Amino acid sequence: MCGIVGYIGNQKAKEILINGLKSLEYRGYDSAGIATIENNKIDMVKEKGRVANLEASPEIGKLTGTIGIAHTRWATHGKPSKENSHPHMDNSNTFAVVHNGIIENYADLRKFLTDNGYSFISQTDTEVVPNLVHYYFSNDKSENTLNKFLTAVRKAVSDLKGSYALEIISSLFPDVIIVVRKDSPLVIGKGNGENFIASDIPAVLRYTKDFYLLDDNEFAVIYKDKINFYDSSLEPHNKEIKNIEWDASSAEKDGYEDYMLKEINEQPTAIRETIGSRFRLGEPCSFDDIDITKSYLESLNKIFIVACGTAMHAGLVGKAIIEKLCRIPTEVDIASEFRYRDPIIDEKTLCIFVSQSGETADTLAALRLSKSKGAKTLAVSNVIGSTITREADYTIYTHAGPEIAVASTKAYTSQVCLLAILGIYFAELLGSYPKVKLEELKSDILDLPSKIESVLDNTEKIKEFADKVYTQKDMFFLGRGTDYDVALEGSLKLKEISYIHSEAYAAGELKHGPIALIENGVTVIGIITNEKLVEKTISNLQEVITRGAKTFIITNQVLPNNNFSYCLNIPATNELISPILSVIPLQLLSYYISKNKGLDVDKPRNLAKSVTVE
Ligand code: M6R
Repeated sequence: MCGIVGYIGNQKAKEILINGLKSLEYRGYDSAGIATIENNKIDMVKEKGRVANLEASPEIGKLTGTIGIAHTRWATHGKPSKENSHPHMDNSNTFAVVHNGIIENYADLRKFLTDNGYSFISQTDTEVVPNLVHYYFSNDKSENTLNKFLTAVRKAVSDLKGSYALEIISSLFPDVIIVVRKDSPLVIGKGNGENFIASDIPAVLRYTKDFYLLDDNEFAVIYKDKINFYDSSLEPHNKEIKNIEWDASSAEKDGYEDYMLKEINEQPTAIRETIGSRFRLGEPCSFDDIDITKSYLESLNKIFIVACGTAMHAGLVGKAIIEKLCRIPTEVDIASEFRYRDPIIDEKTLCIFVSQSGETADTLAALRLSKSKGAKTLAVSNVIGSTITREADYTIYTHAGPEIAVASTKAYTSQVCLLAILGIYFAELLGSYPKVKLEELKSDILDLPSKIESVLDNTEKIKEFADKVYTQKDMFFLGRGTDYDVALEGSLKLKEISYIHSEAYAAGELKHGPIALIENGVTVIGIITNEKLVEKTISNLQEVITRGAKTFIITNQVLPNNNFSYCLNIPATNELISPILSVIPLQLLSYYISKNKGLDVDKPRNLAKSVTVE
């Protein structure tokens, strides 16, 4: 939550910072601000609302400096307002700070500073940081050197409990930006005579492809033509630079009206890239990045898949795949529950963490807990160098490209695809599933991109259905087996971008209570892709039709004559991976309902893309 950007070089910082903020708006968008330095003075402009408001601010012209820091906020402490938006300055206007994360002990620090004569303008946790830097800086009676500035920052940071990615500038040192992070992401892009800072790589990808990924408790002092790195004791060290292969246009809208629509349409490519060279027909799967052995897999008594939101829904399909192919008991848990429920984990447990961003706070905490109990940990992520990937024992990447829209689409299908390949890889090592069937499954995976294209060819039909149901107040999603997993994902998508209340149920569970909610005109979406369960699910759908429901069916089966309101046929595939196809009509349905309601599809209310707070 919250996005931060920084620039130092010879160009006007303002334009670069605003461009960066626009691409980070998915992280939060209730207020935004910029501070630059010119003539040894910090100038600051902040506005409530979207980055567009900041850009249109009558004051924006005063930001002329070539060094600056910027922030787009997702409020935690203090309501969205101009005062609470970042940057925040100390009482003497010498230090300005932007912050992503949460300072848990800010109340104690605020009291300490108040007792020492400091006052506060905002209700934020962040405002303690510039004042603490000032406190330590002004209590050091030595000459004003950069080292004194850096030492004051280190002392301030060592007082903080919680998570932070911080950018700090000072009117006394107009040639540097100091950054430090702990449990919140921060990358530094190296340019030619200029350097960039951002919460994620895509925000500054149009300017550079060379990045340093800052580690926890690591400091960097960034000049326009050099960057110095220090550990937590301020011992200097060298750092490896990473060249990022992503194409800059992959982080742009590329002619689409919204990122979400672009990302839905990118799924054939995302799946192709995720399959990559991980397998060929007739050859075993290979994961160069993990050294899991047959004897290790045989020693396991359990696999956990832990994640949040859509990533957890991908995990549910992963469970079905791993249990079917490997016969290893697999449990899926919501990270925020898992971390507090004393799960039974030991060295015979493999814990898999699925996270598009690799930064989700609860998933990270669950990973740390699992490691502390002796389990091996495996991350499934889309973001290279993200915190979860750095802390896990093993990481395998989806190669979906940057996902900007808050509602996850291509990350979900890529996660399911990668979990399927992982399941096949484990099954091949274990010899737990007939080889010929694994080859058939591989062939089905290889066919997915073209089958996704044919589902996308039905976009108009789904749009027509959306036109008919967008005024509904409630919707229900029904399925069995992996169709139920997709129902959960379809229901989440609808809620988050269209604000329509919806529920997903295992179709057989309906008559145990929720059927009481079915009345004339209610929309029920049924997903039917498992041959063995067709008749069962159809019976459940008949029960709701009898009670007046309108039904929209997504199926790859030949259904007997029926009285469904709409039926959308999708290509047949193995039921274990059918969610990769059946979810696409549901993504499009939510998208067009949201558009019909005139909502902001990419930035739904109250949400942020990366949930880096508990
Ligand atoms: O980055 P992560 O995959 O860890 O994010 C997990 C969830 O916050 C995320 O999937 C969320 O549910 C999406 N907004 C759903 O579209």
